[in-house]
Amino acid sequence: MSDSTITPWVVGNWKMNPMQANSQQLIQDLKQYLKQTPITEQQCHIGVAPISIALLPIQQALLDAQSPVKVVAQDLSRMAGTGAYTGEVSGELLKDSQIDYVLIGHSERREIFGDDVEHVKAKVLNALNAGLTVIYCVGESLEQREAGQAEQVVLQQICDLATVVKADQWHNIVVAYEPIWAIGTGKTASPEDAQAMHAQIRQGLAQITAEGKNIAILYGGSVKPENAVELAACPDINGALVGGASLNAASFFEIARAFAKIKE
Ligand code: PGA
Repeated sequence: MSDSTITPWVVGNWKMNPMQANSQQLIQDLKQYLKQTPITEQQCHIGVAPISIALLPIQQALLDAQSPVKVVAQDLSRMAGTGAYTGEVSGELLKDSQIDYVLIGHSERREIFGDDVEHVKAKVLNALNAGLTVIYCVGESLEQREAGQAEQVVLQQICDLATVVKADQWHNIVVAYEPIWAIGTGKTASPEDAQAMHAQIRQGLAQITAEGKNIAILYGGSVKPENAVELAACPDINGALVGGASLNAASFFEIARAFAKIKE
């Protein structure tokens, strides 16, 4: 079981959404909720992952937020540093713009954009070398789950991660378990199934590193205010990676509140 001192994370993955004006409005609305009911960094790490050209405008818009909100890149290049790599943004370039967090290995990147295991590993390596914190996504497909392979697939993805993370870099890793069949489908894993997988991931991480008990493991896949409280009650679910519901400030704020360790 996880260490109950793990601070939860709730991160909004905006994917290829929305238009600039709407993203600014979304941030203004979120700031308003956080002003009325602050959530401290000790209670929950809150983050938003906008499209790459909105990273800096959103960072700017968050400067006067009363509760800290982290700005997270949705991806980065597998090439490091700077150079002749048209269309790419490296970890060093993100860091140079004070973007300190990045999602890697999201199933949409793996399935639609051909991020294979070697690409994902190169990205993790580059991100960590550049000093970024990585939110590393894992998850099985419906076919894999139905074939009884879910655990094996996910633990293999954790083993892939372990091949590139150095002993002193684990504190810069957050894991997000997102069963592919639950993403954008309205189908959430039951809290029991999610907890069971999170416990397996926890055990896997603990075998690899002494940091394993401290690593936040987020759940993703149709998280919404209606299921957030139940998911948050599971001992090894330390937050959420939220897609669709993060495009609505009220829903996203409510999910963050469900996970935040608020002493009321
Ligand atoms: P969803 O997406 O909440 O819309 O299912 C989650 C994700 O893909 O990160």
